[in-house]
Formats: sequence, structure tokens, C-alpha cells
Amino acid sequence: MPVPTFSRRPITKKDPYKINFICLGNICRSPTAEGVFQHLVNEAGLSAYFEIDSSGTGAWHVGQPANSKSQMIANEHGVTLHSRARQVAPSDLDYFDLLVPMDLSNENDLLEASNGPEQATKILRLREFDPSPGDGQVPDPYYGGIDGFKKVYDIIERSCRVLLEELKKDIE
Ligand code: 4NP
Repeated sequence: MPVPTFSRRPITKKDPYKINFICLGNICRSPTAEGVFQHLVNEAGLSAYFEIDSSGTGAWHVGQPANSKSQMIANEHGVTLHSRARQVAPSDLDYFDLLVPMDLSNENDLLEASNGPEQATKILRLREFDPSPGDGQVPDPYYGGIDGFKKVYDIIERSCRVLLEELKKDIE
């Protein structure tokens, strides 16, 4: 699978690579991605090289912890979700190196909020890293049953593994 082009730079402890995972509500998909990526980074002993966050394009759930089903499935995999929902801010497009939307709608919202090509090249959907990318989107599990949350977890985990393998190449 070809690796997509995205905003890359040398990663050092002095200048950690900053990633913001983004979905609609910041209570299901992006908190899971934040928790899974942080877990993989910790497991690899690389926590000093990354700053990991998540946020939502919508504001309905600001301040809330991750959805209980998302938390339960993450816990079954030894992953704890610590996030409190926040809405993505225009300044995030300056601050972060990479903004990782879950679906096309999140991606379009971010592209509309972006200010020029430098910010736009920081935006890349998570499933661009998925070896089995399907339709390229992490489906919204919010209104469905537990199986949807399990499927979302698996998509996120295998995509985050590929993303971390790529970024490891940039660590100095
Ligand atoms: P998420 O899921 O974007 O993965 O956090 C959703 C959470 C809440 C809503 C939609 C999606 N909502 O409409 O409130």
C-alpha cells in the first residue's frame, strides 16, 4: 500500500510531533484514536516524541468523557480513554503538525476552516493509513450497537499502527 503524502518533519524530544485526531462529537471515534495512538507510542517507549490530542467539529458534547461503549472496548484492549470533549479551534491548524479527521465530513469542515496550502497539507484522514481502507472513512458508531463500536476500534487500531510506523522513520 502506498503511503500518503503528509506533513512530515524531523521529530525530536525538543520538538515533539503534535497530532490532533478529529471527529464530529469527540466522544467516540477521535477519543479512541487518541487513546490507541498514545498507547502504541507508550508501548514503543516514544512518549517524549509525540503530543497527542483529539477534538470534535461539533460542540454538543464539550466537557464530556468518551462514550461508555468506546471506553469499554478500549479497556478490553488494555487502552484507557482519558479525553474530555472539546471543539476544534482555528488555532489548532497552526499548532498541530497533523490533523486527522475520521470521515469526509470532518475533513471538509477542517479544509473549510484552513487558511492556505500550508494548513491544508496538515489534514489527512485516518484511513489513508488503513491497509484495508474500505471507503476511506471511520464510520460514526454513535447511533448504532456495540458491533459498530468494535468495528471502529479495529479500524482505528490498525490505521494507528501504520501511522506510527511511518512517523518512527522521522524520529532523530
Ligand atoms: P463521534 O460520534 O463523532 O465519533 O464522537 C458522535 C457523537 C455524537 C454525535 C454524533 C457522532 N451527535 O450527533 O451528538
